[in-house]
This record gives sequence, structure tokens and C-alpha cells, in this order.
Amino acid sequence: MAEMDAAILKKAEERTQNRFRYTDKDHIVIEELVRLCVSREYAALSGENDAVYFAGPSKPEDNVIHLEQKDEPFDLAGKKIMLPSLPIIFTQIVSLMGNSNSSANDFAEVIRMDPPLAARLLKLVNSSFYGLRHRVDTVSSAVSVVGTKALYSLVLSMSVIKTFKDIPENFVTLPSFWSHSIACGVIAKRIAEYKKIPETERFFVAGLLHDIGRLVIFNYLPFRAKEAFEMSWENDEPLHQSEKKVLEHDHAKFGGLLLKFWKLSDILVDMVMFHHLPGRARHRKEVSVIHFADIITNGMQIGSSGERFVPPLNFDAWKYIELPVQYFEKLFEIVGKEVSEVTRIITPSKNKPGKI
Ligand SMILES: [Fe+2]
Ligand SMILES: [Fe+2]
Repeated sequence: MAEMDAAILKKAEERTQNRFRYTDKDHIVIEELVRLCVSREYAALSGENDAVYFAGPSKPEDNVIHLEQKDEPFDLAGKKIMLPSLPIIFTQIVSLMGNSNSSANDFAEVIRMDPPLAARLLKLVNSSFYGLRHRVDTVSSAVSVVGTKALYSLVLSMSVIKTFKDIPENFVTLPSFWSHSIACGVIAKRIAEYKKIPETERFFVAGLLHDIGRLVIFNYLPFRAKEAFEMSWENDEPLHQSEKKVLEHDHAKFGGLLLKFWKLSDILVDMVMFHHLPGRARHRKEVSVIHFADIITNGMQIGSSGERFVPPLNFDAWKYIELPVQYFEKLFEIVGKEVSEVTRIITPSKNKPGKI
């Protein structure tokens, strides 16, 4: 390995240590993550690593956010916020899932009604994310190969991305937000595979949706979002803590309620609603996977959902994961490659990040 530049290394260490400031750096897992993140940061700072996408939010300046202060009435039952509905195609897939007589062809017929979705689905099924040995060329064979549950997860993911096409970009940009979310999904799916937890696509979806509550807050409560952002910078504290002070609840709760409103499964609601508080979840093992995947994503700084700090690791959650720390290096490698590929395929072109 070429000799390291001491000044760059120092900068990489400082930045990484600062990001991990709210975690217990003596814990063996965090220690290893910090080590890997420092070398990732070093590579990026010295221009060696093209694949790193630094998209941490920048400090809100008065001249950047031009929002008029006004009262934003809301309640969490969604009565005062007009929550968005998912595209009709998702409802059609749900109703096919509920019918035991539905065939792969029935699903394919629905998917074909939405050609851009069908095209993305085929690309994704043929990507390294699935790692299939043979190319799949038709929608109906894609459905038979991935199965209807995986198909449900993919259609849900793409439907949500389509639903939130515009947000006020005062907080984070959509490409950055989706990079963070997709990275969390890819990591969560890989961890679930490693742990041999069945139906790994739901982990991808849960990762993709884990911070969706932020999009609700940014879109429907921008003044409070601004206040929370400013408070987080002023106090140098994690954004989800500032959200609680300003809004009474954090984005995880808003996200969980949105998923309930969409009538998604309890387990998915749990994985989103408790990703920062895995101890309160009913499905602790599954929630712990998302909790940990989010920690890795924030550490690696792939995109951002607005948070500048790596959330603290819940030690009880770690007991459900217990990955050998030697696996992290491999995980970092896989993630770098897969996240760019999946993001390219499933996000609309105007949301493409410059680099991931
Ligand atoms: Fe979060
Ligand atoms: Fe997150």
C-alpha cells in the first residue's frame, strides 16, 4: 500500500470521529466501523475513491431557506396533513396478493400496464442485486423468478419513490435522500441474508422506507423542519433528537404512521417506527437489522436523510445481529457496488446523484 499522507489521514480521522461522536467508540463493532470509515474517508479525500458520495447536509444559512413562518397545524392521525396515496398499481398488486388464485401472469399483466416500472423491474432483476445466473427478458419470467413477495416489495419501493417526487430542497436533495435510503435497504438485505432470516426483500423495503417520515416533515411541516435543523446545528445534536423537541415526535414515528395509513404490514411499520428505538419494537430482530444498517449507512455517508451524526448503537439490538466484525469489510465492498447500481435503476433520472 502506498504511503499515507499524514495530513489527509488526520482530517479523515477527525471527520469520522466527529460523525461517530454519539456512539460508544470502545465497542468492538463501532471500533471496526470507525476504522473502515476512516479509510473510506481517506480514499475520498485523497481522490482515490470515486465511489464515495459525500452528501452530508450543509449548515442552514438564513439566505438558503426562504420560508415564511406560519402556524402548521398537524396531528399524527393524519387528519390535518393530507397524506399522499400510493399509485394505483400498488393497490392492484396488493389485491392480487390477497387472491390465492392469482398466477404469475396476472401479476405480469398489471406490471406491463406501467412500462417504465416494467423496464426498471427487469433491469433490477438482471442486476447484481439479484445475482441471477441467466438473463430474464420478460416480465412474467421476472415474476416467476423473484416470486410475488419480492415483486410486492419492489413495486412498493418504486411506488413510494414515485409518490415523493418533489420536496423542498432546503434540507436535503432527493438524490441524496434516496441514496441513503437505498444504501440502508441494500445493507439490511445483505445482513438478513447473512443471518439467514427469510424474505430478505422486506428488509430492502424497510431500509428504503426507514426515514420516509423525514419526507413527510419536509413536505408538510417545512417550518418545523427548518426549526429542527437549526436546533440540531445550534446544539450540535442528532437531528432526530431535535425533531422530538420541535415536533414532539421524530421522523421514525411519522414514517410509521404513514405506513399505517398506507395499510402496510405491522412488521414493516415496526421496522420503520422503531429504527431508532429497537427496544420498543415488537419484532425486535427485524427492527435491529434496520437499526444497524442505518448506523453503517450513516457511518459510510452514502447520501443523507438530513442527519449528520451516526446514531448510537443499541447494545440489545446488536445481540440479534452479532455479525463477525471481519464481515464488515466485505459488506462495505458489496454495498459500494450495489447501491450505485440499484439507485441508477430505481430512481427517476432527475433524481440521479452525481456520484454515489
Ligand atoms: Fe432515522
Ligand atoms: Fe437513516
